[in-house]
Amino acid sequence: MEVFIFKDSQQVAEYAADMICNLLDFKSRAVLGLATGTTPIATYEVLINRFRAGQISFKRVTSFNLDEYIGLQSSSPHSYRSFMNKHLFDTIDIDPARTYLPECSPGQDPRSVGPDYEQRIVAAGGIDLQLLGIGGNGHIGFNEPGSSLGSRTRVKVLTQRTFEDNSRLFNEGDFQPHMAVTMGIATILDARRILLLATGEHKAAAIKDTVEGAISAMHPATVLQQHQRVRVILDEAAASQLEHLDYYQWVQLQNDSIAAKHGGSADEDPWFHN
Ligand code: F6R
Repeated sequence: MEVFIFKDSQQVAEYAADMICNLLDFKSRAVLGLATGTTPIATYEVLINRFRAGQISFKRVTSFNLDEYIGLQSSSPHSYRSFMNKHLFDTIDIDPARTYLPECSPGQDPRSVGPDYEQRIVAAGGIDLQLLGIGGNGHIGFNEPGSSLGSRTRVKVLTQRTFEDNSRLFNEGDFQPHMAVTMGIATILDARRILLLATGEHKAAAIKDTVEGAISAMHPATVLQQHQRVRVILDEAAASQLEHLDYYQWVQLQNDSIAAKHGGSADEDPWFHN
């Protein structure tokens, strides 16, 4: 796990966007794993600005989102499909036919969505870069505490905590789903590269456990410690409970000096090597 600490959430977004742009520079047909939630919105804004400035194109990109609620029409303003359209897809040149979410159409057995989604990801060549946020309880995607570390895309029932955390996005009286289809933990670990973003003090405890705690299904994000290419991108508030904070900052400085001496482009960054 590489831990990067930035001053604020805007710098986190710029860095995450840099990683995505670097990937697209040498692989225009990249497969991106995308997330919803408040955290990645700033990154999507940076990407949109760079697209508008002609610095990046998503024409040949395929995307797979982590999760989608069960029980909402995709046209519902609360669906993750609508979220992605609003915050990214509608403004960039990605082909909508190549943007996938694990959606369950009305009347469809939600248990059939996962295996199809897994096949689609494999057929697309696998995910080159997965963007993740983290829940206050350590969930990634909707893999709640207790999720099998070997799980694949499937139906998950949200914990009361996640349900309450997400209720801020629904108006009173709106139907709020308590189930979702989510990529599994093993599905996420199959991605070639993972960027975990966390901003704000309310994520500090979950980040401490993720980076410095023991691997446990009760804190699903800890499993990322086993992945070869994970970058944890934090603002100072989200990093504030890390015991070895000074060390991570020292490592960052040393790596910056290697990059300054030997080149810091994607070609020269081992994180991008297959
Ligand atoms: C989103 C997702 C969730 C969120 C997490 C953090 O697709 O799968 O795991 O990343 O709940 O959400 P925010 O960013 O709203 O704090």
